Amino acid sequence: MLSLLFQPFTLKNLTLPNRFVRSATYDGLAEKNGRVSPGQIQMVEDLARGGVGLIIIGITYVHASGRISPAQNSLADDDSIPGFQNLADIAHKHGTKIAVQLFHAGRETGKVFKPHRHQALAPAVIPDDPYFQWPYRAMTEEEILEVIQGFGRAAGRAREAGLDAVQVHGAHAYLLSQFLSPFTNRRADSWGGPLENRLRLHREILRAIRSRVGEDYPVLIKIGVQDGFPGGLEFGEGKEAALALARWGYDSLEISSGLRGPGYENAEFKTRINRPEREAYFRSWCREIKPEITVPLMMVGGLRTPALMEAVLQKGEADLIALSRPLIKEPGLIRDWQQGDRRRATCISCNKCFEALLKGETLRCVYHEETGK
Ligand SMILES: Cc1cc2nc3c(=O)[nH]c(=O)nc-3n(C[C@H](O)[C@H](O)[C@H](O)COP(=O)(O)O)c2cc1C
Repeated sequence: MLSLLFQPFTLKNLTLPNRFVRSATYDGLAEKNGRVSPGQIQMVEDLARGGVGLIIIGITYVHASGRISPAQNSLADDDSIPGFQNLADIAHKHGTKIAVQLFHAGRETGKVFKPHRHQALAPAVIPDDPYFQWPYRAMTEEEILEVIQGFGRAAGRAREAGLDAVQVHGAHAYLLSQFLSPFTNRRADSWGGPLENRLRLHREILRAIRSRVGEDYPVLIKIGVQDGFPGGLEFGEGKEAALALARWGYDSLEISSGLRGPGYENAEFKTRINRPEREAYFRSWCREIKPEITVPLMMVGGLRTPALMEAVLQKGEADLIALSRPLIKEPGLIRDWQQGDRRRATCISCNKCFEALLKGETLRCVYHEETGK
């Protein structure tokens, strides 16, 4: 049987050298003004040399109101373009494709980024929310329209910089999930209520992006199809949302979770991936969505063993395999696998990398640093 892991794959008009995607991963390495730093160029070079087919640069804010960290990249102004050009050049030099994840934090911004503490924006204010205790306010329609234009302009800059695609961040705790979830979106206007209204932001963002980048440029989305707590978005609606996004013209779906519930177990980055049953923890969602869409699907979430990834591709459960934490510890992992060493990734999914970022440190494998393992 022909192995698919290292077969090229064409996404829209973009040919990837293999099936491996570095899922968007915030790195805390940007310059204070959101510009690309030398450390980020080095990181992309390490990943590209390491054999990843497509690198997605993590949460890059498209509008000042959606910024979540001082060390985060920006595509909110034209001065950000040259830095991304450098990232594109270094990836392309090694035959790797590169995309950027377009992001707005919504109400999460005030939780982490102190300058935004009293001006965080959300679809609606939720009284007595057990999951969120920081100040924020509901967006006006004018603000919604401005953020949509921010996504469009940022995508135009990404294309101008020579990046191969953009990915809209429609997952996890952030603005698009806040609009999609019936728990956080309690608006009474045409941006809230039935599913189609809660997806209007996603649709208008696609429209704004297309008006800047045209029809031929790949516009991807990472979509959270279920929230991590009861009373939030349920999979039935999440699946319907994913199918609608594919129908409306997003060129690929990466399937993840939506708003976070308590602990890592109810979030996108589960821990203790220490036996085969814990791996590929969003696989059942992908299996349900994949047969009903015609655009490529990326599976993410706890994928650690090449044999399992091969099975996922062979069974047609996904087209692409996305990894985050394993490549923080081992940026050369894909190259090792390509050279025949098909061992399991050594990442133990402890999330110390994420906890370091929350403390304002830069991305690295803290477990390796502490133990030498
Ligand atoms: C340190 C860290 C940073 C992350 N940053 C992002 C990000 O910028 N955007 C995003 O969509 N997901 C982000 N994620 C989630 C990952 O992309 C991925 O969906 C999740 O970790 C599950 O995949 P994994 O088991 O291969 O790590 C991050 C995860 C970690 C651990």
